[in-house]
Amino acid sequence: MDYNSSTMGEVKKDQAERLRLIMQEKKANPEMVRQPRVITISSGKGGVGKTNVAINLAIAFSEIGKKVVVMDADLGLANVNVILGIIPKYNLYHVIKGQKRLNEIIIDTPYGIQIIAGASGFAQLADLDEDARESFVKELKDLVYADIIIIDTGAGVSQNVLTFLKSADDAIIITTPEPTAITDAYGIIKTISSEINAPNVKLVVNRVKSYMEGKRVAERVINIAGQFLNIKVDNLGFVFEDVTVQKSVIKQDPFIKSAPNSKASQSIKHLMSRLANIKYNGAGGFGRFLKNLFGGKSF
Ligand SMILES: Nc1ncnc2c1ncn2[C@@H]1O[C@H](COP(=O)(O)OP(=O)(O)OP(=O)(O)O)[C@@H](O)[C@H]1O
Ligand SMILES: [Mg+2]
Repeated sequence: MDYNSSTMGEVKKDQAERLRLIMQEKKANPEMVRQPRVITISSGKGGVGKTNVAINLAIAFSEIGKKVVVMDADLGLANVNVILGIIPKYNLYHVIKGQKRLNEIIIDTPYGIQIIAGASGFAQLADLDEDARESFVKELKDLVYADIIIIDTGAGVSQNVLTFLKSADDAIIITTPEPTAITDAYGIIKTISSEINAPNVKLVVNRVKSYMEGKRVAERVINIAGQFLNIKVDNLGFVFEDVTVQKSVIKQDPFIKSAPNSKASQSIKHLMSRLANIKYNGAGGFGRFLKNLFGGKSF
């Protein structure tokens, strides 16, 4: 599907209009305009579930009425659009090359969220220079009509990833229970802890087989970070191992839409509710089970 060509004229008009109104409001009430909440999703090790969490979390937020933009900042291996089955006409490559403005490449999707597609295959551009990075983040933050911007940063800690992390309100670090993923998660938290303006760091353990496993892994990382790095890491929760995730990747259809009551979807809704500071009343028996586990606790 090409969401850029046919409907994009209308979408752009709508965006331009919204932007105009926002600018008007900004002028009239400079103190009233808030910036979007920027949430980055990162990991030390690759392949731990960042893109799936980013997209499904974004859709969960949109389901409670938030305007969400997911940006694929993994400039080496873009795949947000792939998971959604969308072939974008323009992507970050055009922005980096100066051919398009960031707000011109935002794509509507049938899932209630908007995306900014990554520049897959242009790995040589993966490290922008300082100026380009800063103007990029500034432009990103000017997308004020979004309530939330979720940035899928790609794995590891390049200078790009750090720039995004520093501009974030919340930095979600994803790990799995695998020892290598845990060690690498610790590594990225260490890098963040040495930054002056460190964002709120929140840990998500993906692919857990039991509540106890999620709790054990999270506590281990959080305790070590607190003890040796003097950084407070919040336990945002976990996502269950669920074959629905693989199936939805193959179908290019996000699981929170195709299987809203699956273990993975309900886990994501819990993460969202904790980020939004609201209570989630899970559907069905499994939802109640999760609710009992998490209760009204704040992490
Ligand atoms: N909760 C889960 N249950 C089962 N499988 C999962 C789960 N989360 C992720 N996976 C599997 O892991 C694969 C990789 O997930 P994803 O692409 O989201 O990771 P990533 O961290 O974005 O990877 P990369 O570092 O390459 O960008 C998925 O295609 C899926 O097969
Ligand atoms: Mg990814």
